[in-house]
Order: sequence, then C-alpha cells, then structure tokens
Amino acid sequence: MKIISHKREMQQMAKQLLSSGKTIGFVPTMGYLHEGHLTLAREAKRNNDIVVMSIFVNPLQFGPGEDYEAYPRDQKRDELLAEAAGVDLLFIPSVADMYDAEMSTKMTVVKRNNALCGNDRPGHFDGVVTVLAKLFHIVMPDKAYFGLKDAQQFAIVSGMVADYDFPVQLVPLETVRDSSGLAISSRNVYLSDREKEQAPSIYKSLLLAKNKIENGATNIGEIKSVVTDYLKCHTDATVDYVDILCYPELAPLEKVQGRVIIALAVKFSKARLIDNIILDV
Ligand code: PAJ
Repeated sequence: MKIISHKREMQQMAKQLLSSGKTIGFVPTMGYLHEGHLTLAREAKRNNDIVVMSIFVNPLQFGPGEDYEAYPRDQKRDELLAEAAGVDLLFIPSVADMYDAEMSTKMTVVKRNNALCGNDRPGHFDGVVTVLAKLFHIVMPDKAYFGLKDAQQFAIVSGMVADYDFPVQLVPLETVRDSSGLAISSRNVYLSDREKEQAPSIYKSLLLAKNKIENGATNIGEIKSVVTDYLKCHTDATVDYVDILCYPELAPLEKVQGRVIIALAVKFSKARLIDNIILDV
C-alpha cells in the first residue's frame, strides 16, 4: 500500500492508472477506521483493479461547537487496517493541501437537506458535497462506496453526482453493526460504560418501528412516538429527532407507504449518534 499526502500527486497517479486501463474504486472516509469503513474497502477490492481510500477530517462539514478538534484520529492504526482490507493507495492530505486557496465559488445543497441531520447541522452537507466534489476530481474513481448508515449523505451525494454529471457510479452498502446491533461509528469511542450498555437500544427502537410497520401500522405520528418513548425509557440520551420520510427524496409522508426511511439522532453526553433503517412497504 502506498501513502499519498498531496492532491496533485494523487491526481497524477489516478490519471496514470486510468490511462493504463485500470479501474479505480474509491472509499472516502474521515479515518479512525472501523469495520464499516473496512467493509466498504473490501467491497471496492472485489469490483475494481485499484482501491483508493482517503482519510481527511474535513473542517468544512463541522459546525461551530461540533467535534472537529476532538474527532478521533490514529493514522498508524488506520494505515495497518487499510492495508489489511486491500487498500492500494491511502490518500491522506492536510487541510492546507486540500484547501490551498480561498474558494471563489460555493456549493450549496438545496434538496434533501431540510430534514433529519440537515436541520440540526446547518452547512454540514454543503461541506460534505464540497469535499467530495474535490475528492472525485482528485481521485477520478469509476465507483465510489458509501455506507447507508449515513443515508441522508448518500441521498444528497447522489443528487450532486446527477446534477453535475460526475462520471462516477455510487455504490451504497448496508450499515455494519456490532453483535448488539449498534451501528459501528468512529464516535462510539466517546460513549461512557453506562452509555455503551444503553446504545444497543437505538437499533432496537428502529426494529420496534419496523415490526409495527410489518404488522400493518401506517400512522407516522404513532410509530415515531413508539420509537421516542423506547429511547427515553432505555437510554439517558436526548432525542434530537425521530422521523419517517420517503427515501431517497426525504420528503414528509402522510402515511407509511412505498420506500421509507426511519431515521433518528440521539445525543449522549459526548457523542451524537445516528441510525436508520430503510424499508419497502
Ligand atoms: P466517515 O464518517 O468516516 O464515513 C466514511 C464512510 O463510511 C461513509 O460512507 C459512511 O456512511 C461509512 N460508514 C460509517 N459507518 C458505517 C457503518 N457502520 N456501516 C457502513 N458504512 C459505514 O461520512 C464521512 O466520513 C464523510 O462525510 C465523508 C463522506 C468522508 C466526507 O467527508
């Protein structure tokens, strides 16, 4: 595995690979790698000649008071894990290299943004699409791999790729969970022992909703209350939101019907965690 720390070197390498007929699979991450990221890398390895993973904690997508400074980082560990998962090129640029000049244009998300995390994190998805537009131009991937744990992110990035005709195929993969059902996240390290015991209730609350829907429930308000009550009863976390929307449009629904996402965000003392399930009803 080769480590590349400058965007121009990465872009040169990508051009060479493409001109020699190789396909590039890309896994963008913010590092502190875990089984979720590594599953994306292994899938990329199965379907592409070369796997590029980026590790870049993107300051543009963190709001004031969010955890940009405290975001967990461990490059040595990430290097070992990435290599074992089959990554060929690990791209780790600095902030100064990625944002080397004041920007003269801005990307603003105008759809699928006024819902879920878009409401709680103003500007977050503008930062995500900005860095991904840059990364797609630098890495020039044939396919890019994303986790559905961040289902809103996937929906918004799909919109950007369609809007601007990026020549990349986006590949969504299911959320990877630990044996308790907790969605694996770099932010799980912030949980206290007591919160770690409570966190599996997040997925259980989603399964409760799924079960209700599979048994014929269609009233959105009622299903949301069941999830919220379960979380309040089984965790010390505050509930940022629980919502049921159509997917991928993320528009409100009158009743549960079609492809829906049940999504939630909860705040523990130091970690804000998100999870969702997508159902075809
Ligand atoms: P990060 O949170 O590091 O996640 C990188 C990728 O891993 C995303 O596509 C995310 O959905 C996926 N992922 C995280 N946890 C997962 C899990 N438990 N199961 C499956 N996939 C999982 O998302 C970002 O970084 C950034 O916003 C980024 C896209 C890199 C842009 O800065």
